[in-house]
Amino acid sequence: MRIDIITLFPEIALAPLSESIIRRAREKKLVDIHAHQLRDWATDKHRKTDEYLCGGGQGMLLKPEPIFAAVDELKQPTTKVILMTPQGIPFRQSHAQHLATAEHLIILCGHYEGVDHRVIEALVDEEISIGDYVLTNGAIAAAVVTDAIVRLLPGALGDARSPEEESFTDPTMLEAPAYTKPNEFQGMKVPSVLLSGDHQKIATWKKEQALRRTQENRPDLLG
Ligand code: ADE
Repeated sequence: MRIDIITLFPEIALAPLSESIIRRAREKKLVDIHAHQLRDWATDKHRKTDEYLCGGGQGMLLKPEPIFAAVDELKQPTTKVILMTPQGIPFRQSHAQHLATAEHLIILCGHYEGVDHRVIEALVDEEISIGDYVLTNGAIAAAVVTDAIVRLLPGALGDARSPEEESFTDPTMLEAPAYTKPNEFQGMKVPSVLLSGDHQKIATWKKEQALRRTQENRPDLLG
């Protein structure tokens, strides 16, 4: 899989993708990630990428020309073009699973008030938001989406089962609480059922706890 991120801040996008599991996935050639400087496709002498809004209004928008030129240069027949924007569809685990099957993604990162709408009309297949808040730039969001996709690629995680057992693989339920050693810490004990060796009982306890945690933290998932 190949991922091209187009942004005014390639270093912001790459920093979280250069450590730990994602770094190893890149070293193993499971994914080829490139972050490009949008300014490299600006043709005027100041390498300008933004402009005032037509019709007035606060702030600046990314101009269409450098983005069209970048996509034109990088796009392949199978490419899916994504725009990171708070106006996009909320990003979920199921979406990450779907995108992990793609051959090539181009991820466009908004900045300032966003991008000229002709970019969305003509180039973008999917607009994605990582949550109902506004970041200073889409490079942070692109790193989040890329991380969520790449860790799902076969071979990226050491233990092949681990993505299936976590929260959001079942989109209606959070994970149960988990404990490790020591069995007692500052007077707090690991629940005795987890030390009982009774797998049936442990499974039932985990189900109950997962439901309780979901009711407390994410009642919206239960409908
Ligand atoms: N750019 C700024 N805020 C964003 C968000 N919440 N999701 C995706 N891209 C963004």
